[in-house]
Amino acid sequence: MSYAVVTRELSKSYANCQALDKVSLQVREGEMVALLGASGSGKSTLLRHLPGFVTSNSGEIDVLGQTVQAGGKLLPNFRQVRSRVGFVFQQFNLVNRLPVITNVLIGQLYQTPWWKSLFMRFTLEQRQQALEALASVGIEQTAWQRASTLSGGQQQRAALARCLVQGARLILADEPIASLDPESSRKVMELLKQMNEQHGCTVLVSLHQVEFAMRYCPRTIALNAGRVVYDGASSALTPQLLAELYGSNAKELFSSGNSVETFPDSPSGSMSAAAFV
Ligand SMILES: Nc1ncnc2c1ncn2[C@@H]1O[C@H](COP(=O)(O)OP(=O)(O)O)[C@@H](O)[C@H]1O
Ligand SMILES: [Mg+2]
Repeated sequence: MSYAVVTRELSKSYANCQALDKVSLQVREGEMVALLGASGSGKSTLLRHLPGFVTSNSGEIDVLGQTVQAGGKLLPNFRQVRSRVGFVFQQFNLVNRLPVITNVLIGQLYQTPWWKSLFMRFTLEQRQQALEALASVGIEQTAWQRASTLSGGQQQRAALARCLVQGARLILADEPIASLDPESSRKVMELLKQMNEQHGCTVLVSLHQVEFAMRYCPRTIALNAGRVVYDGASSALTPQLLAELYGSNAKELFSSGNSVETFPDSPSGSMSAAAFV
């Protein structure tokens, strides 16, 4: 069994809070998993640990089969592992003044010698690949525009095109739809699903709307106050269960402004809630 992500008793504290409290979880290669939780529950902190943006206080992290953090330290191989991890942020992480295609080509820099990357010189083949990636996320017509001219939804699609060009095997998306309208949110979630199903990428996506978790992710890992409070089938996340897990914060997980049109067609209906726990 291959795992894309494993954490063992991962803990991280900041001045006055325990952001992650002995988080142990496993995500198999090829899964699409929602990381659910109210604001402040530790979703971003967890996701940022995986590519080594943040170092832990204690615990271990394996990414794509290699241990990248142990005992509060990054291991030397983390950069090499990071090159196969794509990251999509809530606040769009494109370089605004550069054309969209250049932003996508930045995904190639992991495979480009440093002296070429200094001048951002890309081969014709690389440019062709970037255009194809933009076409596959449906925004090839924006290739030569500055990134700043794109809508939020288009920027997220460009970020996903960059993951494609990068050849990412694991995509970490930190609330990628939190700033988007419902239509763009659906489109971005569809694309994540497509990258999971057609390109075989493992997807771990943090969300604070349970409807999207249920609609697009067979499995949900829910965090509350830095702890895993649920790990199982998304279809089992009833309002009652969420109320038990989150108390009054549960309301935050049913944000109405950004809901999906149809309620879940529960792709994982046959899966037991306890299957992964
Ligand atoms: N860089 C930081 N410095 C201090 N506290 C932080 C920092 N990052 C996160 N926290 C705290 O850690 C907790 C979890 O935050 P976060 O991971 O951002 O949650 P979420 O993404 O689920 O909203 C919060 O209490 C937050 O205030
Ligand atoms: Mg966050």
